[in-house]
Amino acid sequence: MVREILIWPDPILKQKAKPVTQVDDSIRALVKDMFETMYAADGVGLAAPQVGILQRVIVLDTTPRQPESKPIAMINPEIIVMEGETTYTEGCLSIPGEAEDVDRAAVITVKFLDVEGQEQTLKCDELLAIAVQHETDHLNGTVFVDHISTLKREIIRKRMKRLKAEREEHPSA
Ligand code: NI
Repeated sequence: MVREILIWPDPILKQKAKPVTQVDDSIRALVKDMFETMYAADGVGLAAPQVGILQRVIVLDTTPRQPESKPIAMINPEIIVMEGETTYTEGCLSIPGEAEDVDRAAVITVKFLDVEGQEQTLKCDELLAIAVQHETDHLNGTVFVDHISTLKREIIRKRMKRLKAEREEHPSA
């Protein structure tokens, strides 16, 4: 089921998500919905708070709709090593149409539970490293515009408020 993606600013997107205590069928159903929602929106990552669920769950696929597509779900992800620096022009499904440069670690190691509840450790670079940092930020109530200048952020905030007002006027659009 494709779920509705919250648009920033939204109070839920500022909250810290709670750790998953048990990886059960309800979490697996959430993961399935999050993948469907992410692919429908042409995203490469999605965090549970973006669909209104304050649990520490993220999904990623940096090569969607390609033969090498590799969907990854991470439950309770924790970045344990950060190395190097890189800058990438990021976007976010909760901030549609906007993109800004954000400084991140270039290579990270992340520890997480998979959908079977097994602990995994993965070293990530390139876009996957960016995406894991961006999505784990969401679990801590942070979005990419929190990393840019106040001036740019306030301009984007105005555009998002206008977008939300338009969507309320024309719900089908
Ligand atoms: Ni995002």
